[in-house]
Amino acid sequence: MLDRVNRNIEYLRVSITDRCNLRCVYCMPELGVPGLSHEAILRYEEILRVVRAAAKKGIRKVRLTGGEPLVRRDVVSLIREIAAIPGIDDLSLTTNGILLGKMAEGLYGAGLRRINISLDSLDPQRFRELTRGGELGAVLEGIRRAEETGFSPIKINVVAIKGINDSEICEFARLTLLKPYHVRFIEFMPVGGIATWDDGRIITADKIMEKISALGELIPVEDGGRGGPKTKAGGPAKLYRLPGAKGILGFISALSNHFCGSCNRLRLTADGKLRPCLFSETEIDVKTPLRTGCDDAELSRLISLAISVKPEGHSIASGIKDKYRRSMSKIGG
Ligand code: GTP
Ligand code: 5AD
Ligand code: SF4
Repeated sequence: MLDRVNRNIEYLRVSITDRCNLRCVYCMPELGVPGLSHEAILRYEEILRVVRAAAKKGIRKVRLTGGEPLVRRDVVSLIREIAAIPGIDDLSLTTNGILLGKMAEGLYGAGLRRINISLDSLDPQRFRELTRGGELGAVLEGIRRAEETGFSPIKINVVAIKGINDSEICEFARLTLLKPYHVRFIEFMPVGGIATWDDGRIITADKIMEKISALGELIPVEDGGRGGPKTKAGGPAKLYRLPGAKGILGFISALSNHFCGSCNRLRLTADGKLRPCLFSETEIDVKTPLRTGCDDAELSRLISLAISVKPEGHSIASGIKDKYRRSMSKIGG
């Protein structure tokens, strides 16, 4: 499926719940956001109808996100069904890792093979503050279980935030020396109306790389990265390796060097809206049509419509971000 500027849209990010068992300070207000009612969120059969229709139109990569996807009941059976859809050859999930220790095996058994874990501090006290109560030990156990179970690659997403975890950047990078993880540093994006989280918190990818270069030369990884090397999977991260390291370092510079020109994604929100761009409020409702008996041709038309209105790029770095109202937890990152 090509959009109007010839980008091949083949990646669907499906947010299956807006709920979360953490309250990360950069993502949610302290008391959380009012949860969507049971009726307001898509049922699994509805999600599956959208994914099947999307697969017929050329979507081959699906990622489940949240909120926290592992808090939604019976997510394992949803994964089993999606893994069996013809045309979907890359299925993955982004989680905060809290429930992963218990669930890794079941997820693998259902057909999930790779997983991305958000982890912003390796210090238990700081982790507790950042997530407003989360247990670092549970996430580390989750990562360990995921590795033992055979998930590969395991990607660790670190949102770099000035004054919060910038002192830990090298420690995170060092994880790749001994483990085959992809540790990816993400530029903090001040979105979603979290008022105290302003531009002053941003650390650009260049600055992060500069800090890490104290550990050794950053060697660009063949076939990986944007603006230099190219990722096979078309991901947004620029990839590097420290000399002799088992794992890979990735840098996701959504702000300083945005990758809209090669964006291949479409999003489905938990409340049943197709969202062509993380940073645009434009959404196409599929829940109402699904619940009023639309046929597959209509669903297919709505997907085409969403792709046809996908913006060419975002302007978040130029200061008009006030309009991005949905918090990240309601979009799925
Ligand atoms: P891979 O397929 O493993 O490369 O996953 P991914 O990087 O697409 O997914 P993940 O959920 O791990 O997202 C990593 C970071 O990239 C998150 O902070 C997202 O918010 C950010 N991100 C994902 N998609 C987009 C996008 O379309 N635009 C921008 N600007 N940022 C994005
Ligand atoms: N800026 C950058 N990344 C964010 N994420 C959530 N909120 C933000 C933000 N404001 C990340 C999460 C997760 C991914 C899906 O999105 O940490 O790794
Ligand atoms: Fe939950 Fe993820 Fe938001 Fe943290 S970033 S509150 S883990 S949805």
